[in-house]
Amino acid sequence: MSGFKSIEWLNGGILRLLDQRKLPQETVYNDYRNGRSVAQAIRDMVVRGAPAIGAAAAYGLALTAAHSQAETTAALKQELADMAEILRQARPTAVNLFWAIDRVMSRVDDPALAAVDGLKTAVLTEAQAIAAEDVALNKQIGRNALPLIPDEAKIIHHCNTGSLATVDYGTALGIIRMAHESGKKVLALLDETRPRLQGARLSAWELKQQGIPFMVIADGASGHFMRTQKIDLCVVGADRIAANGDTANKIGTYNLAVVAQANHVPFYVAAPTTTIDMATPNGDAIEIEERPAEEITTIGNCKITPDDVPVGNPAFDVTPAHYITAIITERGVVYPPFEENLGKMMNKD
Ligand code: MRU
Repeated sequence: MSGFKSIEWLNGGILRLLDQRKLPQETVYNDYRNGRSVAQAIRDMVVRGAPAIGAAAAYGLALTAAHSQAETTAALKQELADMAEILRQARPTAVNLFWAIDRVMSRVDDPALAAVDGLKTAVLTEAQAIAAEDVALNKQIGRNALPLIPDEAKIIHHCNTGSLATVDYGTALGIIRMAHESGKKVLALLDETRPRLQGARLSAWELKQQGIPFMVIADGASGHFMRTQKIDLCVVGADRIAANGDTANKIGTYNLAVVAQANHVPFYVAAPTTTIDMATPNGDAIEIEERPAEEITTIGNCKITPDDVPVGNPAFDVTPAHYITAIITERGVVYPPFEENLGKMMNKD
């Protein structure tokens, strides 16, 4: 376990989220009692990272159920369906959000749940299962990756994919953690990850607590390190992996992948199968979130551009599958051709 919790359900129908906007300066937890405020917390990036926002949304539905005054299951189901729509609007790119909401709502549809109390319990139990499973999946991703990590590995990582971006342990950062915990001597080079600086603020904060050697680098420095030093691999997380392996992830991932290929450095994507969206054929079909201009024009409270400048702020990009060496999941490591091999893996029970 980490010394902090990104997401925690408390007795009495409270969801506690670690406010990631305030890290690393302050460790502040916010308590939520309704689904609508959880949707806002996802939008504002109090909680962020694909698996974490999926679990938060599931708990958002659990809050709706826990605090509902509905007297019939039909009325409660309607409240949950309305809240599911609100939560779906929170952010568009990470498929885990939609996956988790759909999973809870398919439980809600179970005709065997004929009493209001039983339905409330079932919603909470499903949200808790999603959260617990996420931790187990992440650890398995880390174990599956171990043969790919040499001893004394230098690894470039983008964004934050650790315990903060998940319920616990992490995906790409979880791989680095697992290698470290298994006795390998790893050095993580953390892309700072403009504009929200998830690498500099969050990944560095996590690895510092875990005693894992790292250094923070500017996003634009990764090519320099790959050209001038032996970098063993790059590993990133994912917000949505299309059926052909094209991968949406934090803006800047595509640049990193292109430079990795130019320097013959293996480029791995680490994600649970809950991030694989077989209904999306390729990366062009993934909606890329455009975020507010202030994320580019200011750092903290400091304005860094002239007033009223035009800004483009896509939060994610798509890395075409042919730049990806392998996709590391809890079910195993998938190599190209991804169209064929992701299909085989996802169809296996
Ligand atoms: O905008 P964010 O911070 O929610 O984006 C998060 C990322 O892109 C992560 O790298 C990705 O979600 C993987 S999360 C394990």
